[in-house]
Amino acid sequence: MAEIYAVSTNKGGAGKTSLVTNLAGAIVKQSDKKVLIIDTDGQGNTSIAFGLSPHEIEDTIYDVLLGIKEAKDVIIEVTEQLHVLPSNNDMNFLEFDILPNLQKYSDPFNLLKKAINSVRDEYDYIFLDTPPSMGLVAGNVLAVSDQVIIPFVPEMFAVSGLVRVIQAIEDFKGKVNPSLKVAGIVGMMVDSRTTLHSQMLQQARRYCLENDLVLYETIVPKSIRFANSTAYEGKPATWTDANNQIVSSYFELMKEVFEYGKTK
Ligand SMILES: Nc1ncnc2c1ncn2[C@@H]1O[C@H](COP(=O)(O)OP(=O)(O)O)[C@@H](O)[C@H]1O
Ligand SMILES: [Mg+2]
Repeated sequence: MAEIYAVSTNKGGAGKTSLVTNLAGAIVKQSDKKVLIIDTDGQGNTSIAFGLSPHEIEDTIYDVLLGIKEAKDVIIEVTEQLHVLPSNNDMNFLEFDILPNLQKYSDPFNLLKKAINSVRDEYDYIFLDTPPSMGLVAGNVLAVSDQVIIPFVPEMFAVSGLVRVIQAIEDFKGKVNPSLKVAGIVGMMVDSRTTLHSQMLQQARRYCLENDLVLYETIVPKSIRFANSTAYEGKPATWTDANNQIVSSYFELMKEVFEYGKTK
């Protein structure tokens, strides 16, 4: 049965989609594991990262959550090893469609769990890309996940933001999914030459140490030039032949995430 990893934080532009697509890309490139990425964000950026057009996709995770479609009929086989369950703008209406109809959807945080039960055995890993808010969608994601990875972009006030997200996850865990684990926190888009970034990471590291959390040694460096050049590739950076620090950091991170996963 697939191990389910969510990549979650309440901030947009924090590198959630980059992390999901590159980590999943790295796994299938270096192993024979089968991976499903489920996009739950209305922006549909996971699909775009694989060269798909979300607005042209008719059936998405939205239809699966509402019970209109079966997951297996909506999943797109990008390659034999990597499949995507896409999302599009319909997901932005999910709360509006579900919350006034709770007599019909009586277990609103477990829609995703029910919806993907039938495909869980087909994969080694399932990655969940999430929207930048802690609402019904994030709740569904955390209810079905085994592990959650939190991207952390060091910037002013971000450590308090990180603490807030971790507290919200811990609180949710106690109420809905006791077996959920915070796998670790990843420093994303880090510019190590900037004193501010180094200080923020140090603060985050201290907080993690004190609270028995993992802040991965591997950080994903910031590179505007790189981000621009990969935006139009239609595949994750870990699938290109680019030989740069960002690509190698994702392969390092993959090793670290799965080593910690084993020993913890
Ligand atoms: N390592 C990086 N350095 C610089 N920019 C990056 C890096 N990784 C991602 N980006 C860019 O940052 C933006 C936000 O990333 P994204 O993964 O879409 O975040 P989220 O899914 O959290 O909104 C995107 O434009 C992406 O190309
Ligand atoms: Mg995203």
